[in-house]
Amino acid sequence: MYKILMTYDSLEGLDKLLVHKDFTIEIHPKPSIEEFKKLIVGCDGLLIRSEVKVDADIIAASDKLKFIGRAGTGVDNVDKIAATKKGIVVANVPGGNTISAAEHTIGLMLSMARNIPQAYQSLKQKKWDRKDFMGTELSGKTLGLIGLGRIGMEVAKRMLAFGMKIIAYDPFANYEIAKHYDIDLIPFEDVLINADYISIHSPLNDSTRGLINAETISKMKDGVRIINCARGPIINEKDLVQAIKSKKVRAAALDVFAKEPPDDWDIITTENVIATPHLAASTEEAQVKIAQEMSEVIIDYFTKGIIRNAVNVPTVDWKTYKEMKPYIDLLSKIGLFQAQVVEGGIKEIKLAYCGNLSNYQTTPLTMAYLQGLLSHILGMNVNFVNALVLAKERGIKITETKERQAADYFSLVKAEIITDRDTNTVSATMFSATMPRFVSINNLGVDIEPSGGMIIITNEDKPGVVGSVGKVLGDSGVNIAGMNLARKSAGGEALTIIEVDDVISKEVVSKLEKIEGVKRVAPVRLEKD
Ligand code: NAD
Ligand code: MLT
Repeated sequence: MYKILMTYDSLEGLDKLLVHKDFTIEIHPKPSIEEFKKLIVGCDGLLIRSEVKVDADIIAASDKLKFIGRAGTGVDNVDKIAATKKGIVVANVPGGNTISAAEHTIGLMLSMARNIPQAYQSLKQKKWDRKDFMGTELSGKTLGLIGLGRIGMEVAKRMLAFGMKIIAYDPFANYEIAKHYDIDLIPFEDVLINADYISIHSPLNDSTRGLINAETISKMKDGVRIINCARGPIINEKDLVQAIKSKKVRAAALDVFAKEPPDDWDIITTENVIATPHLAASTEEAQVKIAQEMSEVIIDYFTKGIIRNAVNVPTVDWKTYKEMKPYIDLLSKIGLFQAQVVEGGIKEIKLAYCGNLSNYQTTPLTMAYLQGLLSHILGMNVNFVNALVLAKERGIKITETKERQAADYFSLVKAEIITDRDTNTVSATMFSATMPRFVSINNLGVDIEPSGGMIIITNEDKPGVVGSVGKVLGDSGVNIAGMNLARKSAGGEALTIIEVDDVISKEVVSKLEKIEGVKRVAPVRLEKD
């Protein structure tokens, strides 16, 4: 049974998760920090919206946590670095609320342009006042978007139909796509200078925190109107209040705030500011879509080990994952193998993905390799999520290369590990989806199924060595399940790989090491398929 802690209480759309026999759900809406630290203990998964902050302390307090699911888009309320280090997947549901957020943005923009909230309030007070609420048309005006991702793009498409000219700043957006929709992707300053309306649709990160401040506002057109349905801290609220009071900024429409709910209500009570309490994603459709997708993401992760929508682990789509899965397992085995055969501190790892494999996004393969390698060295706390971080923390240099050619194979992976005393290389392939094979070790051709127990012996190629090895094993009661011999040239260095049913003891290793001509003995254990 997996225990999932939920910090909000809307169960709509979560049916699949709620009825699943492998999960129990505990609902504790908006726990205080102290409650949260206690509640997280014993939980395998955490399901949140934006109502809680999952900081390093909460993550440190968790003991079994493997998955944090953000039922929504923004994951700025999760300390992703702390989660990654602890091997916890952080996943969101991007896109589920895109249309809702875009429509809310447009709703606020229209409301602001036509003073709808103010006119409504006045009318409710039984005042028939028309002259105070003179509006302005959107048609013919320039809308400047900061962030042209999912929501920015949907806002742009709709506002083009309103006759607005769309300009946008987004350092990572695609020029061709923008051009196709008649959106001018231009530098940040040019958006500030030219826009009549500025709408923010970027994430909150180091490059966007406080992006709209006294200095950037001073570059904007006089009488500019600002909309923020992204994240509050992107705007310096004090600077915006000043700019509205000085009439530099004509009006602002805000759905998000520096602190939610706010301690300081100044921005909200300022005249010409219209506001909603973080409602952009609050539609029945968005919440159900998000909850349904998140249920599936959680179930897939815990019951099938499939990572989807992760923001701290590179993931691939389901079809690609299925194609890559045999190689993901193979890479993990190579890592585990090399961890057991090399001596010394690991300095460098070189992974070459050859043939068809070079067409794939290979980071998940590299992570699988590192997970196999480091789990042997560091223990059970290494997983797919934190393997790369742990390797980098240990100063291990990792290089990935891709080669079109794969010798005689469809796909081939070459792994070289360099320590301060040693080097080992393994080349491996899949003969079929269920037939992994090591085809060379230290450039000596082999044919090994990487599974179960093995003894890797480096020896001189001379008569009697293999016989002596067989005798020691036989005398020690070790059953030989298979044997593979490889050598570069007659009389040179050779490799004797013996498949055994069980792990051999230190005593047996030491007896083998004493055989004349044996240079090194490495017992290896790979999980049996
Ligand atoms: P997205 O990831 O699809 O788009 C964000 C875009 O911002 C990306 O294209 C990215 O390249 C761009 N970007 C990154 N850094 C930037 C920078 N320094 N300057 C300009 N652009 C930058 O995300 P989305 O789904 O469109 O969501 C956008 C924002 O809206 C997020 O902050 C999200 O949390 C927020 N959001 C709020 C609500 C709400 O209820 N108010 C609902 C949904 C999303
Ligand atoms: C989001 O990032 O998805 C929105 O802020 C909506 C929410 O709070 O869940």
